Formats: sequence, C-alpha cells, structure tokens
Amino acid sequence: MASKYDNMSFENLLVSTDNGIRTITINRPDKLNALNKKTVQEIGQAIAQASAEPALKGIIITGAGPKSFVAGADISEFIGLSPAEGMKMAQEGQRVFQSIENCPKPVIAAVNGFALGGGCELAMACHLRVAATNAKFGQPEVNLGLIAGYGGTQRLTQYVGKAKSFELHMTADMLTAEQALQMSLVNYVTSPEELIAKCVGILEKIATKSPMAVAGVIASVNAYYEEGVDGYKKEIEEFGKCFATEDFKEGTAAFLEKRKAEFKGK
Ligand code: COA
Repeated sequence: MASKYDNMSFENLLVSTDNGIRTITINRPDKLNALNKKTVQEIGQAIAQASAEPALKGIIITGAGPKSFVAGADISEFIGLSPAEGMKMAQEGQRVFQSIENCPKPVIAAVNGFALGGGCELAMACHLRVAATNAKFGQPEVNLGLIAGYGGTQRLTQYVGKAKSFELHMTADMLTAEQALQMSLVNYVTSPEELIAKCVGILEKIATKSPMAVAGVIASVNAYYEEGVDGYKKEIEEFGKCFATEDFKEGTAAFLEKRKAEFKGK
C-alpha cells in the first residue's frame, strides 16, 4: 500500500510505505546522513504527515547506506553561528525531535551504523531503537567545543542514568550495539540484514493492538518526563479516555466472545 506522501518533494529524505508501515530514510549517504537544517525541517514535515494518516501502523526511521544512521548535525553549518543562532538551531532541533517522541504512532529507529551527536539524539527521540551489530552510539560534541543541543543531555540521562550520561557526554566515547543493549539504550540488536525486518515485526505486533490505547501509552509514558506534569494524573486521564473508544468496546467484546479483536483505531 503506497501513500500519496511517498517520496514527495523531499530533498534529503526517502519516504516509502509498505503494508501500512512508513519508512523515513535520511538520505545524505556521502555525508554519512549528517543532519543539516533542511533535513531536520523535512523530518518534522514527514512526522507531521505520518501522524495525520489514520491508516499508518507505525514509522521506521533509518539512514541511507551501509555505514551510518546519522553521524550528527552537519558540522559545516555551525561555522560562524552566534550564540543566539546556536540557540535557535537547538530550539528547532528539539521541537522536531519532540514531535517524534510525541507522535501518537509507534516510531522505531533502525540504527544501521553511526548514531553520533544529533544521530544518537534522533534515535533517542524514537520510542524504540533496534541496532544493527555495526551500530555505534555516542555524543562526541565536546570534541568540537560543543555540547548536545537536540535533547541529548536529557534523553541519554533518562535512558542510561546520570553517571553513564556524564561519562559519555564528557569523554565522547562511543558505545557498540552490544554495550548500548546492556545499558537499555537499545531494545534489540540484529544483523544488518535483519534490521528492518525486526523493526517491521515489532510494528506488526503493535498493530494488532488498539491504536487508541497505544497512543495513550505513548502520552502517559512521555508524561513521566515532562516538566510540571503529574504522570499519574495523565495516566488517569488517558485510562478514562479509553472507555469512550470503539476499540475498548471491541477489545472487551472480543475477549468475552473468545475471538481476536479487530481494532479500528477509533
Ligand atoms: N557533519 C558534516 N559532515 C560530516 C559529518 C557531520 N557530522 N560526519 C561525517 N561527515 C562527512 C565528512 O566530512 C566526509 O565528507 P567529505 O567526504 O566531503 O570529506 C563524509 O561525511 C565521510 O566522513 P568521514 O569522516 O570521511 O568518514 P570516516 O569513516 O572516516 O569517519 C566518523 C566516520 C563518523 C567517525 C566521522 O565522520 C566523524 O567523526 N563525524 C563527525 C561526528 C560528530 O562529531 N558528530 C557530532 C556533530 S555535533
């Protein structure tokens, strides 16, 4: 099932849809898929489009070529920026990455090589991460006299804890896929050949559940990390909202009738 949004006028993204799963591929392989401003903007557009398509089951974000997911923000665009321009760049990156985190559909990063700086931050903004055995994760900004700006100091701390986050940001050390798995930074490690199939398998499994409930899970888990938001209250609200959905009626009826639920996402 293709979509009208497939490969529509993006300069640096390839977008395709297969059986209700949207794959967004960052496509600057000769720059190891470094995120220039245009690419960040296009990721925002692609996520907004995907969020608004009821038929989509979920989204995979990956990088073009065999070597790199995303090797960071495009360093060539940093030259000559003022502090105010640097802040604007970080604000825009954070806005787009938050839109991934808040996407009501499941988003999986298929990490097929270097996930450094903004690439590690992009992967961390996704709900789940599957890493190929050749994946490398790191926040090497201190090598450039910089720090992470697209949410990396916050999300890495959330995933691996304060001590390891300090270490990784301050030493710029890279993690292998296996180390990232041990630290719960990634959900699974696969061979490069099996990477996309593993992501598709996870999204197919989630697609058998209620899309309304899955969106409630995303909103509630995210609330744990939101400044000034009581996650327990958010969970109460989202739990209550479920009772107004057709999915809830279908899910409970199917259980009592001993049949498989057919959710419509309403
Ligand atoms: N921004 C801009 N260009 C980048 C880039 C980035 N973050 N990462 C890689 N590239 C470019 C290189 O400049 C090179 O371009 P060129 O062929 O026109 O010279 C091309 O991608 C290939 O990279 P190269 O360094 O030759 O590959 P490598 O295999 O020797 O090294 C890395 C791979 C990832 C270790 C190395 O590219 C690197 O350290 N990149 C920067 C990582 C980083 O600091 N990211 C955080 C940015 S805030």
